[in-house]
Amino acid sequence: MQIDVFTLFPEAFDWFRNQRHVTNVLAHGHALDCVDYRDTTPLTGGQVDDMPFGGGAGMVLRVDVVEAALRARYDIDPVELRARRRVIALAPSGRLLDDALVDELAAEPALTLLCGRYEGFDERIVEHFATESVSIGRYVLAGGELAAMVVADAVLRKLPGALGHEHSALEESYSAALEGAPEYPHYTRPAEWRGWGVPEVLLSGHHARVEEWRREQSRLRARAERDAHDAARAGRRP
Ligand code: ADE
Repeated sequence: MQIDVFTLFPEAFDWFRNQRHVTNVLAHGHALDCVDYRDTTPLTGGQVDDMPFGGGAGMVLRVDVVEAALRARYDIDPVELRARRRVIALAPSGRLLDDALVDELAAEPALTLLCGRYEGFDERIVEHFATESVSIGRYVLAGGELAAMVVADAVLRKLPGALGHEHSALEESYSAALEGAPEYPHYTRPAEWRGWGVPEVLLSGHHARVEEWRREQSRLRARAERDAHDAARAGRRP
């Protein structure tokens, strides 16, 4: 997997790059590179954005700046690039990231993540250079960097070798193994703390019963999540 992140703040990824699961996958031959739009901007003074046509607050990332950065990196017309690899514009209005999308992205050989800033992208970037836009939630961040890290984190930890235990990413919240349900609760030592115990079954050493208990907990959590979601929707109605 080769992930390229286009950003105005490549240094924002320094911390992320040093996380254990990321260093693990990078050691397995995967790559995470940051490309700074400013390094190839055709405009003077490192300019990358401009005022929106029609007026309004904020600045918009320019299409010519993004084209120059993509051409410099891939040496082809970005319109053709998107036929060859997934180019994702991070935007609050995009397809919501979930486990199914993460699985889909983790199966790709390469991803390009475009971070916007300020008011976001000139729409022609999304329309002509990106294969899709992806959102990490219906709220607005100051830029796409945190969203790109969320996408990269969720994708990279799915790759073999990321977590140390091949098993760890298989049976977790929202995975197919749990039929899309949240994960069951975990407990560790001490078995009792301030009078708070641990479900007896987990201490029983009876694997089949433990398995059964976990599935049931996962189903209960899914139901509680659905109820909370329905209640929140009902509460919002006028
Ligand atoms: N850029 C700004 N806000 C965002 C969000 N919620 N998801 C993805 N990219 C964003």
